[in-house]
Amino acid sequence: RTVYLNGEYLPEEEAKVSVFDRGFLFADGVYEVTTVLDGKLIDFDGHAMRLSRSLNELEMKNPISKEDLLEVHRELVARNGIEDGLIYLQVTRGAADRDFAYPKDAEPTIVLFTQAKPGLSTSPQAEVGIKVIGIEDQRWGRRDIKTVQLLYPSMGKMMAKAAGCDDAWLVEDGFVTEGTSNNAYIVKDGVLITRHLGHEILHGITRAAVLRFAREAQMKVEERPFTLKEAQGADEAFITSASTFVMPVVEIDGAAIGTGKPGAVAARLREIYLEESR
Ligand code: PDD
Repeated sequence: RTVYLNGEYLPEEEAKVSVFDRGFLFADGVYEVTTVLDGKLIDFDGHAMRLSRSLNELEMKNPISKEDLLEVHRELVARNGIEDGLIYLQVTRGAADRDFAYPKDAEPTIVLFTQAKPGLSTSPQAEVGIKVIGIEDQRWGRRDIKTVQLLYPSMGKMMAKAAGCDDAWLVEDGFVTEGTSNNAYIVKDGVLITRHLGHEILHGITRAAVLRFAREAQMKVEERPFTLKEAQGADEAFITSASTFVMPVVEIDGAAIGTGKPGAVAARLREIYLEESR
């Protein structure tokens, strides 16, 4: 595989980052994951804008213009022959002598690599849905910044697996914030309900697109918090993310949602999303 590192295209074995990189020592870095379907980037602009925002919030320099970033994405897709897959992008504050206070003028490290995912858009998982557990949200308070501090979400996934499930929904002060790596939704009496934006959740690019399509389809949308109990009594539940699109949730903490099968609203939104965003 060819990867991109600080302005160069390199074979993956030759791409090296300093042991003093603050991404490695402090998780002082941000990332984006952009989907490729049929060789085309999905929602590149949204991801580029969120990257700028994350960097701004952390007083980090943006090492690349949007035009150059698009070029790098396209070049990697071409060089690695990606039809369906993901592009991972990470920017860290760069290498500096270890110190909690960060240097204001460090040279950021920028890395991009691809992951081929043949058949990504025809995932059989979407036909059966996923099962989730509820766990306490123990992440830091600025989840709107897409940092590489992903240890708690990793632990959450492992807890879900240990419980025979696929993912975990995170709960804070009694309300669901989001999934470990996705936004969470329920549908009740035809109303689509998902948590409002704020520091508590990542502002999903897929979320923005799906809410737009839902409103265009005359669906009623409520952006507000909901509890696990409300979710268990909903007609449908689902998640969204760049890599899963719209994925039905059929069980929450052992309780079947609706009929226990993927719901019609989730299926419809998945279809619209896949049609409209490519
Ligand atoms: N995760 N919430 C969290 C905590 C996330 O990590 C993600 C994305 C989302 C969905 O955002 P978007 O629709 O922009 O992908 C919500 C990516 C896919 C990941 O970590 O792999």
